Amino acid sequence: MSEQHSESTPTPAHDAGNDDAVVTAEALHVDRFEGAWIRVSVLVLVVFLVAVIVAGFAAGFQLPGQYARIDPATLYDPGSPFADPVLRELAPGRYEVYIRAQIWSFIPNEIHVPVGSSVTFYLTSQDVQHGFKLERTNVNMMVLPGQVSTLTAKFDEPGTYNFICHEYCGQLHHTMYGKLIVEAPAEQANQQ
Ligand code: CUA
Repeated sequence: MSEQHSESTPTPAHDAGNDDAVVTAEALHVDRFEGAWIRVSVLVLVVFLVAVIVAGFAAGFQLPGQYARIDPATLYDPGSPFADPVLRELAPGRYEVYIRAQIWSFIPNEIHVPVGSSVTFYLTSQDVQHGFKLERTNVNMMVLPGQVSTLTAKFDEPGTYNFICHEYCGQLHHTMYGKLIVEAPAEQANQQ
């Protein structure tokens, strides 16, 4: 029994791996304040990660999708949705709108939808880089020649939602804007 004990006891003490692990942990000399700051740093990263997950999956924040590539020279071709872009109703309360950005306007620059509608925006540029920011929504995207950018938003509040070009595109960049008007039902409008 004692022989077995004496044989087995030295094993952990002479295990090279174990010795190294002990020495390394001691060699770190993490003092109290350093340890506290390491914990704070890790906590901040965890908070950021949770914020990204909540924003992306619970709050619906999303990157503008690259719907398709498009040759800017073909925008006016027959059959191109950007030749004479308009609002289209796909189903009750479901709309899509193609918008052509150009120096220095959006076509169309006034859109009317009923309250409660969900609208999918498809934008491209015929010339230079533009932007499309629709207030009070998460629609905020770059509009590039050669690419169709898309995002969807739902409009539960009636009112006027202005949209602007928020990428500098030249001399009259600041005049490039339009509006989306979310209309209340007729009976609601009469009561007001
Ligand atoms: Cu278009 Cu700025």
